Amino acid sequence: MTKLIVITGVSRGLGLAMTEKFIELGHTVLGCARSLEAVDKLRQKYSFPHNFTCLDVASDAQVKAWAQKLLANYSPPDLLINNAAVVNNLAPLWEVSSEDFSQVIDVNIKGTANVIRHFVPAMIAIKSGIVVNFSSGWGRSTSPEVAAYCASKWAIEGLTRALAQELPGGMAAIPLNPGIIHTDMLDICFGSDAVNYTSIKAWVQKAVPFLLKLKPSDNGVPMTIPG
Ligand SMILES: NC(=O)c1ccc[n+]([C@@H]2O[C@H](COP(=O)([O-])OP(=O)(O)OC[C@H]3O[C@@H](n4cnc5c(N)ncnc54)[C@H](OP(=O)(O)O)[C@@H]3O)[C@@H](O)[C@H]2O)c1
Repeated sequence: MTKLIVITGVSRGLGLAMTEKFIELGHTVLGCARSLEAVDKLRQKYSFPHNFTCLDVASDAQVKAWAQKLLANYSPPDLLINNAAVVNNLAPLWEVSSEDFSQVIDVNIKGTANVIRHFVPAMIAIKSGIVVNFSSGWGRSTSPEVAAYCASKWAIEGLTRALAQELPGGMAAIPLNPGIIHTDMLDICFGSDAVNYTSIKAWVQKAVPFLLKLKPSDNGVPMTIPG
């Protein structure tokens, strides 16, 4: 069955790869990211019913307008994927600037909450749909120099499991650790070692079928894309 999928952070990395794979399999993708150039490229490549919008998930007002526009023109999503995130500039916590720390919290936690705030009521109204919030290995473990990012992903785990207890039957909220994949974010975290990890191309072959199989009985269960 064709699914309607909302994804944040579609301009590159895992978000772009999921978008292209979902579309290849015949699903409809409604996505967003901040980079206008990348969003324009997606618009040129994939026309209606797909839809790509340039916005910052950290802005509640922008997410609200986006959700209102989409929900006026499409049914509530079958799959809502909170993928957009940023990592802090690597440094011990006491050297992470207030601005950098806030950016991580605003995008990774508040951005996810903004998307949930404006899409989930329509899903609850029909008691259907799966919410997947991208977590990390660093949402379940820690490393030095990524304290802000760890804090945000541990928050995603807690937020998602609490949300799971609030949703009606027929729906699910799942914190998902994607694994370790060679994206721009991994270049920031691991430097030249990043190339030794799973390619985006290999990851998406496993991740997309895994995402498409998620079901209401998975509600509240922390999951990991198999390596
Ligand atoms: N790669 C890994 O190994 C790994 C491991 C564990 C968890 N993860 C998680 O997997 C997800 C994807 O990571 P990735 O490696 O693909 O990262 P990435 O390559 O850095 O891509 C991040 C995406 O999020 C978008 N984004 C960032 N801030 C945004 C904002 N404020 N509003 C809208 N979009 C925003 C970016 O687009 P713009 O800059 O154009 O906005 C980009 O499309 C993240 O949640 C990450 O924490 C990744």
